[in-house]
Amino acid sequence: MSVRDGTIDELRAAVGLQIADEQLLRTLVAGLDDVEDVLRGVVSSDVAAIDEAARHLVDAGGKRFRPMFTLLASQFGPGGRHEAVVTAAAAVELVHLATLYHDDVMDEATMRRGAPSVNARWDNSVAILTGDYLFAHASLLVADLGTDAARIIAETFGELVTGQMRETVGPQHGDDPVDHYLSVIGQKTGSLIATAGRFGGMFSGAGAERIEALHRFGSIVGTAFQISDDIIDIASPSDTSGKPQGTDLREGVRTLPMHYALSERAPEPRLVELLSGPLTDDDSVAEALELLRRSGGLERTRATLADYARRAREELAGLPASPAREACESVADYLVARTH
Ligand code: IPE
Ligand code: IPE
Ligand code: MG
Ligand code: MG
Repeated sequence: MSVRDGTIDELRAAVGLQIADEQLLRTLVAGLDDVEDVLRGVVSSDVAAIDEAARHLVDAGGKRFRPMFTLLASQFGPGGRHEAVVTAAAAVELVHLATLYHDDVMDEATMRRGAPSVNARWDNSVAILTGDYLFAHASLLVADLGTDAARIIAETFGELVTGQMRETVGPQHGDDPVDHYLSVIGQKTGSLIATAGRFGGMFSGAGAERIEALHRFGSIVGTAFQISDDIIDIASPSDTSGKPQGTDLREGVRTLPMHYALSERAPEPRLVELLSGPLTDDDSVAEALELLRRSGGLERTRATLADYARRAREELAGLPASPAREACESVADYLVARTH
């Protein structure tokens, strides 16, 4: 039996959100099924090395949050172009997936989606090339959607990698570290989720104002999504995230809880010492995690996350009251809830 025919709780689990409206849930689940078919078609290759490495993370799963959001955003238009919405949703997920292959090389990550990362299971070259292959296929899909979509996805990808580069080089002289962090995550994560919402609006024929509201909502939600990911890296066990805890610490990436902990009036000296560079041994990571959890940084980050969730909700005011708008509100709730 497919999940399409499942109980309401099974449908909610498939979508990852506590959506109340059963009809909307069934529409989203059916759309996600169609996206899955496109993804599986696209990641196949006659060359076994590409085929295996490309399938690896598609098969490992993931939340499919971006395509789900494209499908949800498409509820705000008169509809009629289901195929284009599904293509756009699949393309966004493929761009995301390509960036994960590359990100895991840069972050020297060992696990992704509860499975060994591609760089760990094969090597960096395989991960980089497979990421490129997936990006090429995302571009092929978008080519079918017209030049506007192709331009938007190219601009989005440019912004995303700019964010990744700015994270890599860190704040420059005179930059406020928290402002730098928030702007970087808006670029590396917010930009693609914003485009996911924009595409949903565009390919369902929504008007310009609604498309812009979905774009802004996606940008804020995407930024909040990264803040919640950074909380999870410190506060949640690996079996819930599918990624080892403390990856940011190992990589020497300073996230918001760390910035806040370091900016306290009297920061814990041992934490300052530990956060001065990448941590290589497990004991130091465990110690830093413990100190971070006890610092005020984590609570302050939760407050910032709640503030982003509130701002995201405000963007929904321009959209008509409907089950789809309520579902967007539950996206904002979900971001906060996933960190607990
Ligand atoms: C991981 O994204 C990278 C971030 C932007 C935090 P997701 O948390 O959406 O990863 P998957 O797709 O569910 O694996
Ligand atoms: C994920 O970034 C990749 C992009 C947002 C492009 P991170 O390095 O912060 O995310 P995880 O924790 O590895 O998923
Ligand atoms: Mg990473
Ligand atoms: Mg990274």
